[in-house]
Amino acid sequence: MVGVVGLGTMGAGIAEVFARAGLRVIGVEADPEALARGRGHLERSTGRAVDRGKLTGGERDEILGRITLTTSRDDLRDADLVVEAIPEILDYKVSLLEDLDRICKPETVLATNTSSLSVTAVAAATGRPGRVIGLHFFNPAPVMRLVEVVGTVVTEPSVVAGITELSVRLGKTPVTVGDRAGFVVNRLLLPYLNQAAVLLDLGLAGRDEIDAAMRLGVGLPMGPFALLDLIGLDTAYEIMGVLFDETRDRRHAPAPVLRELVTAGLLGRKTGRGFHGDETAPREPEQVAGVTFGVAGDDPSSIAEALTKAGFAGSDDPDVLLRFSDRPVVEHAVRLRRPSSLVGVHLVGDRVAELAATVLTSPEAARAAAGLMTAIGRTPVPCKDRAGFVVDALLYPYLNDAVRMYDSGYASIADIDAAMRLGCGYPAGPFEMLESLGLARVRDGLRALYAEHREPAYAPAPLLDHLVTAGMTALPRP
Ligand code: 3HC
Repeated sequence: MVGVVGLGTMGAGIAEVFARAGLRVIGVEADPEALARGRGHLERSTGRAVDRGKLTGGERDEILGRITLTTSRDDLRDADLVVEAIPEILDYKVSLLEDLDRICKPETVLATNTSSLSVTAVAAATGRPGRVIGLHFFNPAPVMRLVEVVGTVVTEPSVVAGITELSVRLGKTPVTVGDRAGFVVNRLLLPYLNQAAVLLDLGLAGRDEIDAAMRLGVGLPMGPFALLDLIGLDTAYEIMGVLFDETRDRRHAPAPVLRELVTAGLLGRKTGRGFHGDETAPREPEQVAGVTFGVAGDDPSSIAEALTKAGFAGSDDPDVLLRFSDRPVVEHAVRLRRPSSLVGVHLVGDRVAELAATVLTSPEAARAAAGLMTAIGRTPVPCKDRAGFVVDALLYPYLNDAVRMYDSGYASIADIDAAMRLGCGYPAGPFEMLESLGLARVRDGLRALYAEHREPAYAPAPLLDHLVTAGMTALPRP
């Protein structure tokens, strides 16, 4: 029998996962209102599965029938495992664990679904630190296949083994790691999401454009702002605070816009509004006609061909000059007779074109460039002329962080790749992405980011640098 304390989005999802696996579940909330909200989560989630033909009505009733809801923690006295999923505040968790330690039988395993807090600190609050473990699910818990199983220096090996085995029985893929802030996924994911919020705040590009660049360009299931809204901005803010306290890395300082939204009570999906939720009518794609274009820089032929096919004329004295460049675009602009017509272009995958306007680019040229990209079936992502534009500025530091994590010995390449694929639905893990982009290209991109921002964390990880210097195109795998 399993207890789940806290039936918010995560706790209700976790209760559903156990009940789906045939286990009896006791779900505990603080008061009747919160319990009713938890019941609502369970009913909606399983109802959606019935609507999609994934469960029959009878199966749904059986699943819900295995879950007993209560406001009394004392009902957990006979549970074999209790998972807590209450808010991400250490004092709350410590006080809950003290209580559970008193209520539950001595052999009960107490698990915390903490996203980033120290499992060791939570374990130390009990008289059974060897039977306390981290069991970290991903939102939506019934869908995401990963669980992180977090053992501390005092967790009994049999408890780690038992919880790992149970995770497999739940249909999940466990990745077993030690107790570091953020574990694998949040340590790699949250700094990327936080950085997206910083770029938005700096006006580098718009919310929908950044979301589109990462979703359509990189193939992620959600853009960073849609994902922040799913996770909850309060949770993201708390996690960043914990990461910052451990690392003192400036990139881990919560983005000011997160604090502002959280203070305003705009927490994302759970309150109906966060970064998204104030949508007006979607912006119509730019349409242009009769614009002449020039293309310069590396490999301009494919885009010139596509534009000619779409009926646009090339010209040496163009309305708009598109320049492929990995240097600041403005360095090219100042050498031109008409710098106002220059727009930097960076194609991302098959569907996105980042368009960097310099301080000299005219609004007409920027609009014309967006229209040209729309005409050839690419989503334009207008942005400022900064190293890495949007995608590389968000993706490369994440890949660099993954290399540093592996090099520190915290987790294997296979586990890190699996964690990001199964925990976040990424099409590929960071090492798979790194190898398909090319180690040298990512190393050089990081050097450009470092040169511009002088941010130590952007400097290529020594391992990456050495692999490129040694002419390697893949990470060494055992
Ligand atoms: N509850 C239950 N089931 C849900 C659900 C929910 N909230 N949302 C979606 N689903 C199910 C649907 O029923 C559907 O199931 P089916 O394939 O069996 O029919 C499936 O998920 C796909 O749903 P949709 O077709 O409606 O939507 P998408 O295809 O767009 O997928 C998504 C939605 C699964 C949320 C996908 O966008 C995704 O994988 N996003 C990334 C989520 C992510 O990164 N999660 C990790 C966040 S980090 C975290 O949780 C850690 C924490 O500590 C902060």
